[in-house]
Amino acid sequence: MASGNSHEKVEKNVGLLAVLILLAISVGGLVQIVPLWYMRSLTEPVEGLKPYGALELAGRDIYLRESCMACHSQLVRPFRAETERYGHYSVAGEFVYDRPFQFGSRRTGPDLARIGGRYSDEWHREHLLNPRDLVPESIMPAYPWLERNAADDGTIQQRLRALRTLGHPYSDEEIAAAPAALEGRTEMDALIAYLQTLGTAIKAQR
Ligand code: HEC
Repeated sequence: MASGNSHEKVEKNVGLLAVLILLAISVGGLVQIVPLWYMRSLTEPVEGLKPYGALELAGRDIYLRESCMACHSQLVRPFRAETERYGHYSVAGEFVYDRPFQFGSRRTGPDLARIGGRYSDEWHREHLLNPRDLVPESIMPAYPWLERNAADDGTIQQRLRALRTLGHPYSDEEIAAAPAALEGRTEMDALIAYLQTLGTAIKAQR
């Protein structure tokens, strides 16, 4: 059988086998990956999504520093149990300005992808100072130092510029005004400002 013979040839020739395996993997990989580059829903921000302002960005960095992701995901999956509890499921276009994204995989606490606007700033402040004051059975740690530290560590302009090189549309004016936006604000203010933006672009649309 002709096909049997050619298969035998491939099996007995390690070099040829390796080349053909590489070819098969490359074609398979490209077929999956290339269309993703061109799908608007995956590469374009959802309508109304803005890059984080200076104060929110500082807050986001505090969220990363304190490893809130160790207990909180930021990804609502498209299941009824989740959408009824948290709101609209997450879509790729919401994370265009999230570097690195904070999807997470642990939910010791609730998902935070749609936490923006759900509570007042004052609620968050009290909760972060001592979660048990508001939720007696909470096992979330308290973060009292956020209230004592200044939001500005002197690097906000560098951080904005670094993100601009990655395509976040910050203007020169926004970067120049960044230190003023942080002036007199604490890490607590910054973190709360960040939390209050989470998930709001989609909420505003629906
Ligand atoms: C050890 C795990 C743990 C860590 C770390 C943690 N949390 Fe929590 N968080 C929880 C738990 C459990 C709850 C639910 C009980 C409560 O509301 O306190 C919660 C609740 C919350 C809520 C209210 C959510 C809702 O829908 O009611 C917010 C907001 C929140 N956490 C923010 C944060 C932020 C910001 C950080 C990082 C500074 C953080 N958490 C770190 C465990 C954690």
